[in-house]
Amino acid sequence: MAVGGGISAGNGKQYEGRVTPFVIVACLVAATGGLIFGYDIGISGGVTSMDEFLQKFFPAVYEKQKNATGHESQYCKFENHMLTLFTSSLYLAALVASFFASATTRKFGRKISMTIGGMVFLVGAVLNGAAINVAMLIIGRILLGVGIGYANQSVPVYLSEMAPPKLRGALNIGFQMATTIGIFAANLVNYGTAQMKANGWRVSLALAALPALIMTIGALFLPDTPNSLIERGKKDQAKEMLQKIRGTPNVHDEFSDLVDASAVSQQVRHPWRTILEPKYRPQLVITCLIPLFQQLTGINVIMFYAPVLFKTLGFADDASLMSAVVTGLVNVFATAVSIVVVDRFGRRVLFLEGGIQMLACQIGVGVLIASVFGVSGNGAFSKGLGNLALALICIYVAAFAWSWGPLGWLVPSEIHPMEIRSAGQSINVSVNMFFTFVIGQLFLSMLCHMKFGLFFFFGGWVLLMTMFVYFFVPETKNMPIEEMNRVWKAHWFWGKYIPDDAVGLSHKSSDHDA
Ligand code: BGC
Repeated sequence: MAVGGGISAGNGKQYEGRVTPFVIVACLVAATGGLIFGYDIGISGGVTSMDEFLQKFFPAVYEKQKNATGHESQYCKFENHMLTLFTSSLYLAALVASFFASATTRKFGRKISMTIGGMVFLVGAVLNGAAINVAMLIIGRILLGVGIGYANQSVPVYLSEMAPPKLRGALNIGFQMATTIGIFAANLVNYGTAQMKANGWRVSLALAALPALIMTIGALFLPDTPNSLIERGKKDQAKEMLQKIRGTPNVHDEFSDLVDASAVSQQVRHPWRTILEPKYRPQLVITCLIPLFQQLTGINVIMFYAPVLFKTLGFADDASLMSAVVTGLVNVFATAVSIVVVDRFGRRVLFLEGGIQMLACQIGVGVLIASVFGVSGNGAFSKGLGNLALALICIYVAAFAWSWGPLGWLVPSEIHPMEIRSAGQSINVSVNMFFTFVIGQLFLSMLCHMKFGLFFFFGGWVLLMTMFVYFFVPETKNMPIEEMNRVWKAHWFWGKYIPDDAVGLSHKSSDHDA
């Protein structure tokens, strides 16, 4: 491969072992951590459009919507900052929490972080469901955010460490799969509770306790990863665990690589300072840019505001909620596609194909909206054109769901050496949460001011990120996670940042294998 690849995927070193039912079950349980993330993404948009909720907590917003003349531009009719702040504030809390999670995950293990995440989220869900004033609502939101910060920091790392290299992509994407199931479940719940005469919002918010319970109870029974056990000096336990998850007593090679990686890791007292060293530049740059780009695909415009967007396109209330359910379903199924192909075709093929497909749809939707609403924002979609827009949005969601959705969590979790893994993952979570916040907060204003140009704006970013992947993101499939430096070393651009001794470990063990 001329650019980006550098090392052929097949070069991944093979350890002994097989895929055991034990590791599959552990990964499935851990992946439920994605449920709480997804449920929250999907639930807030619907709740904030329920009249009773608005009357109770945001009466001014309610009055404004009721008294709207109906003559304003289609582009601007939903602009409101207070309300978007309710949705997006959670992501700020998650951002801050992910830094605390980093220390917890490193010192006490991935499992503890998952348990903390689940429990705090549970308390948040109870507070929200029982809310009698705005304070309870906001404190609840903050606790939900803390839970998500902890879960998203620890679950992807847990999955990447437990999984055997050749199945790492598929097992890690279990997290994204759970996220999409959470979003879809929330869409359905909202569809149901919107029909309730009273307290529909309360039921929607309180039901978040369910995924939190599943995750918390699951985490209590999970074993910790061998990597983390070694990192915390429990070598014997780590070896036993490795034998158990790989289904063979013969884990010598993998175990000794883990021990070597941990020895390097032990020398690092300040992971945050260390990650700034030049030899970690490829990881640092990629871990900052991937979550940024993931959010600049514009996906959360659909996830948060699908009903609003479809209403803007002229769909009736019910049809709008239903359309959100349809995109939710597409999201789940397309994620499954990526589980099947990610370890076979690799990450790069998915990134590149997904990028091109998203770009084509964004241009299509932009042109369609421009031709109907123009710059003035007055007009209405015919049924046929409305359905065409819905179809394009579904094709866009599918592309995201097999590329940037799962890979945005997979790639950052598999590229860091042990000594900076927790810190790197916190950067990933916090950048992701920050831009989720920004998009959540600004989308309705951007739609109001940029009009159909908004779709071209996100399209421009998708073009840029696709080019970035082509040149700067190497293939990581099948490469053992503690051997990843070989990938960077072989890369046309990043190679110069990796000192020779950083790949010495792998030379030593390959010699030993031969
Ligand atoms: C992203 C979320 C997004 C979700 C959609 C995740 O990977 O981080 O922001 O809402 O995918 O499925």
